[in-house]
Amino acid sequence: MATIKQYPEHIPVLRDAFVDAMLSDPDGRYVDCTFGRGGHSRALLARLSDKGRLLAFDRDPEAVAAGKQLAQEDGRFSILHSDFARLGAGLESEGWEQVSGIGFDLGVSSPQVDNAIRGFSFRQDGPLDMRMDTENGQPLSQMLEHVSERELVDVLRSFGDERYARRIAAAILKAFRSSKLNSTADLENICFHAVPKQARFGKTHPATRTFQALRIWVNGEMDQIDAGIRAAMAHLQPGGKLAVISFHSGEDRRIRDLIEAQVHACVCPPEMPICMCGKQPTMRWLQKKPLRADDMELAANPRSRSSMLRVAQRLTADEAKKLAGYSGGLH
Ligand SMILES: C[S@@+](CC[C@H](N)C(=O)[O-])C[C@H]1O[C@@H](n2cnc3c(N)ncnc32)[C@H](O)[C@@H]1O
Repeated sequence: MATIKQYPEHIPVLRDAFVDAMLSDPDGRYVDCTFGRGGHSRALLARLSDKGRLLAFDRDPEAVAAGKQLAQEDGRFSILHSDFARLGAGLESEGWEQVSGIGFDLGVSSPQVDNAIRGFSFRQDGPLDMRMDTENGQPLSQMLEHVSERELVDVLRSFGDERYARRIAAAILKAFRSSKLNSTADLENICFHAVPKQARFGKTHPATRTFQALRIWVNGEMDQIDAGIRAAMAHLQPGGKLAVISFHSGEDRRIRDLIEAQVHACVCPPEMPICMCGKQPTMRWLQKKPLRADDMELAANPRSRSSMLRVAQRLTADEAKKLAGYSGGLH
């Protein structure tokens, strides 16, 4: 068994619960869709046998470089520079069809947030970038060139639940179009002054939700979640497990609904007395109510404060048939 080596700059959230959730067979094939600095990957490798294999994905070239180093140290591990929406293509390139477990630890890593040049943080001055994949896509500065005020309001509301979306969006575009928004420090200042005075010194900084929403927008994170979770469920072997850690309620709802659609597969309208669509479930919940960090973890790692872990398992063909037949065709 390998010893667990951690990078001090990124403490993996819900580490043991996440690994327990993914693991079924120590000889199996596993996928870590969000390598980061490999905290979860290393913990999982420590629980696999010599036959076990782990393939990781990350869209951030710096994370992939860290992963390549791990691949040199441990022959059971490999990593792809790819977003997880292309999970299916990645698995195919490895000659893998079905796997024993797949994990997602969504969002940004501490090294990404802590590096001012990446533009994720309102606590440091940096460029308007926010891309996780610095080799592809458009940085925030380019995205702002084409966005309408109405679209920006929608981004801030949908991805940040921002109460003052209208005021902030108007202020951002006004400043951007008059060349007064050039850095994350400018953006932070604009958010601060756009909200009413009484909202400026609350528990969370007035720029928090805007930075989160813009990051999700720049990286197309919701579409990534849709494609990634669907692909993951399709590539689990019977009995294989899916573990997903998310950090805000919009993400978590999306994940719950994607999995729920496979747990309750029937798509007949509720007024139909019996099921006519015949769609069979493919998944079952193992952790439907999200698991959260306990007090000890919260004290050691403030990042774990908003983390939520959901776990589901792929049904065997027999289980799926039984569950579909269980209601005798009734809803
Ligand atoms: C919260 S960190 C993961 C930390 C990791 N579990 C660890 O223990 O070090 C999220 C990582 O996932 C990557 N990421 C986020 N969305 C992604 C996507 N759609 N495709 C691939 N990688 C993604 C980010 O670049 C980041 O490195």
